[in-house]
This record gives sequence, C-alpha cells and structure tokens, in this order.
Amino acid sequence: MTKEQKILISGVKPTGRPHIGNYFGAMKRFVDLQDDYRAMIFIADYHALTTERDAKKLRQESLDIAIDYLAIGLDPKKTIIFKQSDVQEVTELAWIFNCLTTMPFLSRAHAYKDALAKNKEVNVGVFDYPILMAADILIQDADVVPVGQDQKQHVEIARDTAEKFNLAYGETFKLPEPLIDENVATIPGIDGKKMSKSYGNTISLFASDEEIEKQVMGIVTDSKGVGEPKEMEKDTLFAYHRLFSMEQLPELENRYRDGGIGYKESKEILIKNMKDFITPLREKRKKIAENTEPVIEILKQGGQTAKHSAFLKIAQVKRATGLL
Ligand code: ADP
Ligand code: TRP
Repeated sequence: MTKEQKILISGVKPTGRPHIGNYFGAMKRFVDLQDDYRAMIFIADYHALTTERDAKKLRQESLDIAIDYLAIGLDPKKTIIFKQSDVQEVTELAWIFNCLTTMPFLSRAHAYKDALAKNKEVNVGVFDYPILMAADILIQDADVVPVGQDQKQHVEIARDTAEKFNLAYGETFKLPEPLIDENVATIPGIDGKKMSKSYGNTISLFASDEEIEKQVMGIVTDSKGVGEPKEMEKDTLFAYHRLFSMEQLPELENRYRDGGIGYKESKEILIKNMKDFITPLREKRKKIAENTEPVIEILKQGGQTAKHSAFLKIAQVKRATGLL
C-alpha cells in the first residue's frame, strides 16, 4: 500500500483554548501530514462531555476548535474535518467493544488512575474514555494516529481492542500505530511540568502580545547569573527556543554553554520570536471567526464523509457479531 492510501486520524477535545503544547505535540503535525495520508481530523465533543456540563460552552468551544484548525492551516480540500458527534456510529461501536473489554484492563489506564489519585469523581465516561477513542480510530480503519506522548497508551488500547475483536470474530480491524514525534513529545509548561490546560501553566497558541509577555516573564528558571554557563536541557526557556528561535539556536547554544546570556535577555529574545510566530496565526484566526457559516459548512461536509465510512464499517461489525 502506498503512503497516500494510508489513513490518518486524530482529534482534540473542545475544552479550553489550545496551547503551544497541543500545537507542537499534535495540531501542527496534522497540518504537516495532511498531504501524505487520507487525513481525518475531528473535534472530540463526545469525549468533552465527560467533563463539560455547559451546553452553550461546548457548542462554542467546538466551533472554536474548528476555527483553530483552519487558522493553523488544515485544508478542508485535503483533510476531512468533522465533529465526532456527527458520527454516532462510534458510540455504537464503543458499546460492542465494551462487551469485549474487561474492567481490570481499563483500570490500568493512566488517565483513570490519575483521576482516582486526585480523588476526582470518576464517571463511567471517564473510565470508558479509551474505548470510545478506540472506536473513533478503528471505525475509520486508521493506520496512524498522530498524538502527543500522553495519548500513546490510548492508541495502544485501541490496538489491543482491535486484536481482541479480530480474535473473537475474525479479521475485521487494522492495528493502528501511534505517530509520536520524539522531539516534541512533551512540551513543558511555564512551571516546567508538562504543559496542560488542567495545570494552568499554558501559553495559548493565539495569545495576545500582553499575554505572551506576561507568560514568558513568568517562566521559572534557576538563579544563575549572566556570566555563568547554563544547562540547556533543564531550562524551560531553552525548550521554547528550540520551537521558536530556530535561526538563533546555534548562537543561543553557545551563549548558554559558555555563559554570557542572562535569563532576562533570553526571555526578551523568546518574547520577540513568539510574537513573530503567533501574531499572523492570531490574525488569520480572527478573520476566519468573522464569518462562521463556511466553517459550519466544512464540518457538515466532513461529518457526512466520515459518517459514510463509519456506516460501512459498523455494518461489517454487525455482520461479524451476529447483530445483522
Ligand atoms: P491538555 O493536557 O492540555 O488537556 P489534551 O489532552 O486536550 O491537552 O491534548 C490534545 C493533544 O495535544 C493530544 O494529542 C496531546 O497528546 C497533545 N498534547 C497535550 N499537551 C501536550 C504537551 N505538553 N506536549 C506535547 N503534546 C501535548
Ligand atoms: N483523547 C484525545 C485527547 O485527549 C482526543 C481523542 C479522542 C483522540 N479520540 C481520539 C485522539 C482518537 C486521537 C484519536 O487529546
């Protein structure tokens, strides 16, 4: 099979604004890969329901993610962009997978264990989250799933689920591969921990100039003086230079290694480069947001295409299981 015919799928939950970790870990890669695959990118609104109870907010944030996708360069002529809930067949497939999946197996999932450890209320949706995700992936016969490191286990659960089904009912599903770029697998937040909406340590992908300044100035560093050599690997600022200061990187590396740059100057350089990068994205987004009708139409079209392939697959599953 040529690379062109391979199927790529991924999604992002519409909960909160995307940050540069989401962008470099996942979203940018959707754009980079859209020429090489049959690309399908969706808004994971069913998954968002595990935490979101405000209908107005969910509706708005779903549309916002669609606008974000277009602003960063996803091209609806190349990528099928759709809302997960327009493909109801995924919930049907998730139920069928539920009947094959054991509780102890899902109890090992990181997201569930984290929620338990934090004493969060765990609804059944949270527990079953990886199975709905497996359905998203397998119903489209996806070959590859570009995600950040934190989603690797979920793609492995999808693979295991495909194997389990194939063993029980005969060869039906392809085994998908996670596509993780090791260079950007985990982008740190401004406090040095993994950048995540739930840790409040993010830099928004569409941040205003003021937000960029405030957030970069808030990055935690050690207390080494200007003249002292600095450790690039341990410095969050430097992790961002690798993403935003490509041209100056060799010079910055030398100055970090030999001493001769203070964190204040390093932050100022970063602020300038981030602004140069984010401003055109923010402006493009603003323009798209002025008229959302074409965006809604893109989602509608994408939903129909995704539903068509899902419908064919679920029919195959129903025949295999005896439901049809
Ligand atoms: P968050 O942790 O902020 O809620 P999501 O779970 O919505 O982010 O993740 C959306 C996508 O972005 C996933 O593919 C995830 O792997 C990726 N991602 C999230 N945070 C990071 C990060 N800090 N570094 C790299 N990729 C990330
Ligand atoms: N769980 C993913 C996240 O939190 C979103 C998601 C849902 C997804 N279904 C998917 C990603 C299928 C890739 C493929 O970011």
